[in-house]
Amino acid sequence: MSVGYKAVQWNRQKRIYDVILWLSVFLYLWGFMTFTEKAGDNLDTHGVAIRAYGSAAFILLHIILSIGPLSRLNPKFLPLLFNRRHMGVTMFFLALAHVDGWKILKLPWELFGAKAPKFPWDFNGALTWYHDFGDLDPLVSLFVGNTHYGDFILFPFEFLGVIALFILFLMAATSHDFWLANLTAPIWKALHMGVYLAYGLLVGHVVLGALQTNKHPSLTIAVLVGMVWIVGLHLITGYREFQKDKKALFLTTNDFVEVGTIDEIPESRAKVVIVSGERVAIFKYEGKISAVSNVCQHQNGPLGEGKIVEGCITCPWHGYQYLPESGASPPPFEERIPTFAVKVEGDRIFVSTTPNPPGTRVEPALIT
Ligand code: HEM
Ligand code: FES
Repeated sequence: MSVGYKAVQWNRQKRIYDVILWLSVFLYLWGFMTFTEKAGDNLDTHGVAIRAYGSAAFILLHIILSIGPLSRLNPKFLPLLFNRRHMGVTMFFLALAHVDGWKILKLPWELFGAKAPKFPWDFNGALTWYHDFGDLDPLVSLFVGNTHYGDFILFPFEFLGVIALFILFLMAATSHDFWLANLTAPIWKALHMGVYLAYGLLVGHVVLGALQTNKHPSLTIAVLVGMVWIVGLHLITGYREFQKDKKALFLTTNDFVEVGTIDEIPESRAKVVIVSGERVAIFKYEGKISAVSNVCQHQNGPLGEGKIVEGCITCPWHGYQYLPESGASPPPFEERIPTFAVKVEGDRIFVSTTPNPPGTRVEPALIT
């Protein structure tokens, strides 16, 4: 990992992205509420706000799910990956406001039995607005208000939203690198893959909600278009990766495979090839060639899509760094990735089919 780059702290770039993110969210909410009210929809302020916050969260979820595949298709989208976690946490708070309005902000006053202040744009979320008019506690009413659990079209759509919100909460609460280190990368990753489950549940929440409340079919159509976009984007990226993986390399002598020519690789960049089923990044820098595993130790980022910065391979996702000759992060960091022996003959590059243990130093091949 880089000494200069602090993955979990704010830096100038993150601040700029955050300001753009929050301004966009603010403009969307303001525009949605203003225009819906002007359009004379016979919903009150609370109903409009519930929709504004719910749809803002749902749109942001689409953006978050698009960033991964888009940046695999075009590196121009890579900077957005830096800010994906802040987008995720923002999405959770928008979803929470959709459900709870601004009530959570009033908890400190309520705990002490005091009268809470009135915030600007104060509104009751879906839980209070749709469930606090009867004798039942809103939380009980949420689960027993609609009991068509055995039905398809009449299934309680809010229940799907509850599970999705719980998943989003777990993800937002563990989004900090502290949790990544403590839960270990595989568990953290598995937990955060829950975003796809949450997305599926939310598609059900919005579509069934629209059908049950007799909304205009345009909402259902918009959700389906969004689903085609997300699924399509993932399928296209998956297919492209699969095609790349299929390109078999021919074994030459002494367990080395030919992986391409020197002029194919731009200075300080890499070419990624598959050797014995593993992705290997072959870097060209300062008249030398080195080969390392393509998988970053932080969150499996594609190292071969990064570049050499100040003598270190720098991951394009969050800036972890590794020395090209040894695959070890510069001190004080301790991450290590496997390296591969390399040979250069004329302008042809050959890489060993057997990886060295992580952190093993290998003499770079000199470009003559
Ligand atoms: C406890 C969890 C939840 C409850 C009780 C709940 C409740 C509701 C209700 C009652 C509606 C219908 C509103 C109306 O017809 O005006 C609705 C719609 C919607 N919800 Fe939720 N929701 C929950 C979670 C979520 C989450 C986590 C998201 C997104 C991340 C979400 C996004 C939406 C969207 C996009 C709509 C459609 C908005 C529209 O009609 O324009 N909901 N929800
Ligand atoms: S730095 Fe995060 S995946 Fe590489």
